[in-house]
Amino acid sequence: MIPLALFLGGSVIAIPVVTGIAEGVQEQKKQNEEAANETRMIKFNIYVHCEDEHELADDIDEGIIVLRHNKVWVVPRDIEARKPIPPKQGLTPELHAFAGFFIQYPDDERCPVERGLVSTISDDPPVLNWIYVNNDTYALAYGNRTASITHMVGAWDWTDDERYIMLDGFEGFIAVDEGIDPSTEWGKEGLRWAVYFDNDDDGLKKKKGKRRAFEIGLERVCQSAEEQLKQLEDADKKMQVKTRGGLSTQFTAPGAEARMKKKEAA
Ligand SMILES: *[C@@H]1O[C@H](CO)[C@@H](O)[C@H](O)[C@H]1NC(C)=O
Ligand SMILES: *[C@@H]1O[C@H](CO)[C@@H](O)[C@H](O)[C@H]1NC(C)=O
Ligand SMILES: *[C@@H]1O[C@H](CO)[C@@H](O)[C@H](O)[C@H]1NC(C)=O
Repeated sequence: MIPLALFLGGSVIAIPVVTGIAEGVQEQKKQNEEAANETRMIKFNIYVHCEDEHELADDIDEGIIVLRHNKVWVVPRDIEARKPIPPKQGLTPELHAFAGFFIQYPDDERCPVERGLVSTISDDPPVLNWIYVNNDTYALAYGNRTASITHMVGAWDWTDDERYIMLDGFEGFIAVDEGIDPSTEWGKEGLRWAVYFDNDDDGLKKKKGKRRAFEIGLERVCQSAEEQLKQLEDADKKMQVKTRGGLSTQFTAPGAEARMKKKEAA
């Protein structure tokens, strides 16, 4: 068992990377290396590009990905501050920008193993969730292992230049207009463009109905060393956590399950 210390927003999460006994040593070694790959674990934000000529595409182009109401959204970005611009003032909690990295999804049933994608969904407390694609709607969503396991959780990847995000080797991401419907939680907050994955490679023909949709590119933008350091320092002031998974759970983190506060650990 190789406990992997993941230092995340102040939480040290020990991930024992173990594979089934039946699996070959070479395969296990490869998986452990992949899971331990530090390049894959560099935290990044996601910027959005949209080349569509339609005027509404201006809402999306140069945007940034945020996570809210269990869905994944595009909102405009403050270019200087590198932060989301909330569609409405005074949102509580504030919009949380995707800030995540790649890591192996813990599921014995998935063979070969799939590379998952995690993001923080809040900074205080620091909670990580899996990013997945809802099997029925093809909407991107986030949730813990239990919430995500029956859906498409990978394989997430980057393009050869490591600049754009792919799923299943395909950059098929589409922003869909959920309409500004004041009866929905997101409508009230002015969130409009949700991210979907074009799983059937048909421009979401069967899934989007009459809703407007634009193809988008998801750009991986690594956080600067200062940003990462600041997060670590902020988090360090708040908490310092150690968890250790057992063999039976194999892989306890990341995910909401991995969240633990100092007082619980102490
Ligand atoms: C980690 O990932 C990088 C980028 O894909 C790759 O070049 C490198 O070989 C990987 N390292 C290991 C140990 O797998
Ligand atoms: C996982 O998420 C589901 C909702 O999607 C929730 O009901 C459950 O309590 C969560 N599990 C943990 C361990 O947080
Ligand atoms: C979700 O889709 C995957 C393949 O894309 C399939 O293996 C799995 O059984 C599906 N799960 C559900 C709950 O439909």
